[in-house]
Amino acid sequence: MNEMKSDLVIIHINELVTLDSKFGAPRIGKQMSNLAIINNGAVAVKEGLITFVGTTNELESIIPLTKIDKIIDASNKLVTPGFVDAHTHIIFDGSREDELSMKLAGKSYLEILQSGGGILKTMRETRKATLERLVKNGKKILDRMMKFGTTTIETKSGYGLSLESELKSLRAVKILNEQHPIDLVSTFLGAHAVPPEYKGKTDEYVDLITSEMIPIIATENLAEFCDVFCEKDIFSIEQTKKILDIAKNFGLKPQIHIDELEDTNGALLASELKAIQAGHLLKSNDKGLKAMADAGVIATLLPATPFCLMLKEYAPARKMIDLGIPIALGTDLNPNCWTESMQVIIGLSCYNMKLSPAEALTAATINSACALQKQDQIGTIEVGKKADLIIFDVPNHHFLPYQFGVNLVSEVIKNGQVVVDIS
Ligand code: NIG
Ligand code: FE
Repeated sequence: MNEMKSDLVIIHINELVTLDSKFGAPRIGKQMSNLAIINNGAVAVKEGLITFVGTTNELESIIPLTKIDKIIDASNKLVTPGFVDAHTHIIFDGSREDELSMKLAGKSYLEILQSGGGILKTMRETRKATLERLVKNGKKILDRMMKFGTTTIETKSGYGLSLESELKSLRAVKILNEQHPIDLVSTFLGAHAVPPEYKGKTDEYVDLITSEMIPIIATENLAEFCDVFCEKDIFSIEQTKKILDIAKNFGLKPQIHIDELEDTNGALLASELKAIQAGHLLKSNDKGLKAMADAGVIATLLPATPFCLMLKEYAPARKMIDLGIPIALGTDLNPNCWTESMQVIIGLSCYNMKLSPAEALTAATINSACALQKQDQIGTIEVGKKADLIIFDVPNHHFLPYQFGVNLVSEVIKNGQVVVDIS
């Protein structure tokens, strides 16, 4: 009999969602419904990595449980991979709760932005904030995300909009990644809005991004991805192309915000640029969506944003799944749309985009890991991957959207350590 040492084992898991990569990574179409579930499951962990995945009986036949430091009994519980939040904006100062009343009074997102509010209000506050303050704000958000089961996020700069403040924001991401258990993947989003000093001179601001910001950020290794808010009256298709082409030459991988408020042919652009992921896509046309499917661009859907903007329309997730586009999920956490909970996102995805609970969970784990190109390390429960796991105090995954708006987490394990215990 093989003897295997472990630091931690979880046994008697009522429903163990492994999302085994042999059924696709990213998962598309019907694969999105296959969670590769093991009942009465068990997982063993050693030095931060997963060393065993199978049934409790199989585990007991190879590891004498007496030799284990910590055993968690997950009877009647659900275990899934840690959530991967594929699209967030956590680096900012201040808040915009006042804009909720403006939105309720009928003001649109772009009207609020054009009158100096929105991203520009947050920019003014973020420019004034010290690096320490941005780190402190980010830590508070990450602590809450972790309590709700998130173990990896993508996050962006984009509220500095000057060389100095964009660098400050990306340095905050770097420090948070070093200090916090959650892993952060860093994205440069200098092209989030045109700052007031470049009003009416968008091309000049694009030049600043491409000739100064990108080279420095790439040299200092401060970002893995580059993003652009490509939207009517923000950054055009041509400007987006220019920024992302130059970013690519500097080794930054492309991703974009597209077709959130209007169809600007962003989906077609995402496929031409071979973007790794594209976010929002509420208004994308069919031709663009087909091109995205062919190019394998991951659609990161952010249903909290139309929810907070009180829009009637959500991204056409069912059509995307039929076309074979891989879907990932993110909170889009930002001062306009502020939630730390991927459980809320799973709920919104089911109720407003008609994803099944299994599809939503797939999108929030393995497919989001693929959107960050981290699928070799995270996103599934498989031997050799990071032990990033959530234990939920519910018997099966259908509960995640069903019992909504509350925290169903019992424990969160990050790199093999129990970092949240509310059991
Ligand atoms: O993804 N659309 C652009 N950026 C963010 C919103 C940023 C903000 O309003 O502060 C988004 O929704
Ligand atoms: Fe966003």
